[in-house]
Amino acid sequence: MTNPDSTPLDITNVHAVEILDSRSRPTLSVTVTLADGTTARAGVPSGASTGSGEAVELRDHDPARYGGLGVRTAVGNVNGEIADAVKGRTYANLADLDAALIALDGTANKSRLGANAIVGTSIAAARALATSAGLELWQSLAPAGVAPRLPVPHFNVVNGGAHAPNSLDFQEFMLAPIGAPGLAEAVRAGAETYTALKKILHAKGYATGLGDEGGFAPDITRPEDVLAVLVEAITTAGYTPGRNGIAIALDPAASEFYRDGAYHVAGQTLSSAEMIDWYDRLTTDYPIWSIEDGLAEGDTDGWIEITKRLGSRIQLVGDDNFVTNPAIITEAIGKHIANAALIKVNQIGTVTETLEAMRICRDAGYAAMVSHRSGETEDTFIADLTVATGAGQLKTGAPARGERIAKYNRLLEIADSYPDLPFGLN
Ligand code: PGA
Ligand code: ZN
Repeated sequence: MTNPDSTPLDITNVHAVEILDSRSRPTLSVTVTLADGTTARAGVPSGASTGSGEAVELRDHDPARYGGLGVRTAVGNVNGEIADAVKGRTYANLADLDAALIALDGTANKSRLGANAIVGTSIAAARALATSAGLELWQSLAPAGVAPRLPVPHFNVVNGGAHAPNSLDFQEFMLAPIGAPGLAEAVRAGAETYTALKKILHAKGYATGLGDEGGFAPDITRPEDVLAVLVEAITTAGYTPGRNGIAIALDPAASEFYRDGAYHVAGQTLSSAEMIDWYDRLTTDYPIWSIEDGLAEGDTDGWIEITKRLGSRIQLVGDDNFVTNPAIITEAIGKHIANAALIKVNQIGTVTETLEAMRICRDAGYAAMVSHRSGETEDTFIADLTVATGAGQLKTGAPARGERIAKYNRLLEIADSYPDLPFGLN
């Protein structure tokens, strides 16, 4: 095995194309070519319920194309400025290339060249580096001193909020087969429960159309009613609800229903304290092990309080409020906000900064859950990133739809090729 640090990034070309994501919106495909002939490609993801502090996704705003969502400007930035700057240059490693991209952009939030342009280049370069070194991508990405690990897949099987046109305000209801003996069994548990869930929803008269992440989007208003159906599906599929079988993880994405200092959710108007009381009851009544964005990104006092109240028994994940930003996560850790971070490469815009955010979590004893975006391509980078960093958790949608299962299928292939890799929560 070659040490990737000893393989320089000798870039001869970078080329971007405007392609489509899973929501029929334009995004970028970026191909990096190295001097040894290696080529590697990346597809750039895109979110819908974004945090305000995310690195900026550059869109054309030309109403004549794709309703203004075209990315020809970002594509032009890759094929122009970025290619001109990096072509013919040799970087000692990925961190050096990413630092050069950040410096070339020159803004704090990557708004000039576009985080979509930069992250596509960074991911393609990371993949090229691994291929050139003769390593699996996860081997090449693994930080020194970190034990790679297969994650518990978190299958988002019921979609609401900004990801579905139903009456459900909570955005994501996930199945987490924490008790599975291995990755393949965890995938099977998720898929069998998803299938059972479809039958149960159908029998109860609900539509079984899918939301953006491949989960069902039934017209159910009360989260309690979804949770009851999930428990029924887990049991029907022959599994045990809870941490020794299939537990449930929520992403209410509460920033989306927080207005004027209150939470407008499931037909109620709740204060921050009332939301925390509700989560206390929900996590007592149902086998919920993790809640992401239970409160809105600006509700800092609420976040501190929910961490005090529930943090010792429930994983509390910061997404909109953390935006995979090393500086923001460091500050939040100092304030004892949450006990885990969601990790999305395009929220911060380079692979190096993503790895730094994950290192900060590890050092502070915070968990990290790697995540796709609601708009995805067939790119499987996040599967390798999760294994490399030993994070132990990956959420990448339902066990359905090509752009979602591509990541789970990549995990299955890694598990098959490397049977000695440990599986499970970190
Ligand atoms: P997004 O949602 O990709 O639409 O931002 C995912 C999430 O909120 O975790
Ligand atoms: Zn989220």
